[in-house]
Formats: sequence, structure tokens, C-alpha cells
Amino acid sequence: MGGHGHRITEEEAAAMFEPPSWEQRYSGEEEVWSGNPNTQLVAEVSGLGPGTALDVGCGEGGDVIWLARRGWRVTGADFSANGLARAARHAAEARVADRVDWWQVDARAFTAGGRSYDLVTTHFLHPPDGGMVQVTTRLSEAVAPGGHLLVVGHAPSEVFTQLAASHRRAMFLAEDLLPGLPDGFEILVAEQRPRTMTRDGVTVDVHDSTLFARRAT
Ligand SMILES: C[S@@+](CC[C@H](N)C(=O)[O-])C[C@H]1O[C@@H](n2cnc3c(N)ncnc32)[C@H](O)[C@@H]1O
Repeated sequence: MGGHGHRITEEEAAAMFEPPSWEQRYSGEEEVWSGNPNTQLVAEVSGLGPGTALDVGCGEGGDVIWLARRGWRVTGADFSANGLARAARHAAEARVADRVDWWQVDARAFTAGGRSYDLVTTHFLHPPDGGMVQVTTRLSEAVAPGGHLLVVGHAPSEVFTQLAASHRRAMFLAEDLLPGLPDGFEILVAEQRPRTMTRDGVTVDVHDSTLFARRAT
């Protein structure tokens, strides 16, 4: 989410949730890309047979490419055109371009519009002020009968205490999202999972808030 190492104003913090901030971040030479899929995606989806998938807030496309390599037909969605352009480049380099497409959309205004997917996944999308509950509802509407929803984000943590208050409020626990999950979903996982990550060259222990649910057939 950026802004580490110095305190930022609430105004700067609010701007970091909006497209121009992400466009700028993805416009530079520096690769934010690690290429590695997210830990909880691998943990939950490795056991599923491939189908259609939607990754919202896909960034540079690491999870999209991992899914496509495993036989999924994947739509990568993000509100940043620069992010999607990078993701498309990485997908071409990984030779999976024929299995993926891209959708520029804001998750806060997302509507499934008749589309449905066997897997809807999102990692580290943090709309401010509890917005992830509404996003969870929007995403759940795009899950096909019998399909899965995976929502992963940062649990509130000391690691993020130097961030602005609005950023701390954007962190969530898996159980915070449950009011946004409609009837007809079986909750398979709703927990915080420990993970070690490296941030600005420093190794820190964090928890991934992980909600994994299956829509009834
Ligand atoms: C922290 S990055 C995570 C990228 C990727 N999911 C990953 O785990 O590496 C968050 C991504 O979500 C996108 N994003 C943030 N807010 C969004 C929103 N409201 N709608 C769509 N995309 C959004 C950003 O452009 C960025 O690519």
C-alpha cells in the first residue's frame, strides 16, 4: 500500500486508494512484479480443477498467469490501465496470452452484468473505510453455481501502524466480510493465516485474512 517509512497525511492516504496513484506507481521503470502467485491462492486453488476465473485487483498479473498455466481461462481485472498493460506483457512473456483477457473496472462499482466465473479471487484490494464488505457482495454475484470465492487481504497489524488512520481502517479480518456474503455460500475458510513477507528489504510477520467460500449448485 506504499507510504512506508514516513507518516503520510490523511489526504495523501486517501489519494492512494484512487486510480491516479496506482497509474503512477505502474508507470515507472521499477517492476513491482515478483511473478510469484499469492500464498493463499496456491493453498486453496491447487486442488481445484480448472475452469473460468476472475482476479479483481490483479495488478501485474502474477496470479492470473499462475492460474492460466494450470489450465484456467482467466480475466484479470484492475482499475489501473498501466497495471493491466504490464500484466498483459507478462502474460505474453509467459506464453499464456491466449488464455487470458483483461477488464479495466473499479471494484467499488463492479457489477457482474450476467458474467459468471468458476472462481472469483482477489488479493490485497483494500478499499477504504470497510469498503471490502460491499466489494465482497459484488464479487460473490459473479460466482457461478458450484464455484468458489477467495478474498484475501491484510489483517490489521503493528506492521501497518505507521500508515494513516484511513489505511488502518482499510485492513480487515476474514470474519468482517461475512455480512457481505449472500445466502447460498458455504464458508470453507474464514481465518487469519500467518505469513512471512519482505517489505522494503525487511522481513515481517503478517497475517493474511482469508475468506474462501463455495456457492451452492
Ligand atoms: C496491492 S496491489 C495487489 C495486486 C495483486 N492482487 C497482488 O496480490 O500482487 C492492489 C491492486 O488493486 C488495484 N486496485 C486498487 N483499488 C482498486 C479498485 N477499487 N478497483 C480495482 N482495482 C483496484 C491496484 O491498481 C493494484 O493493482
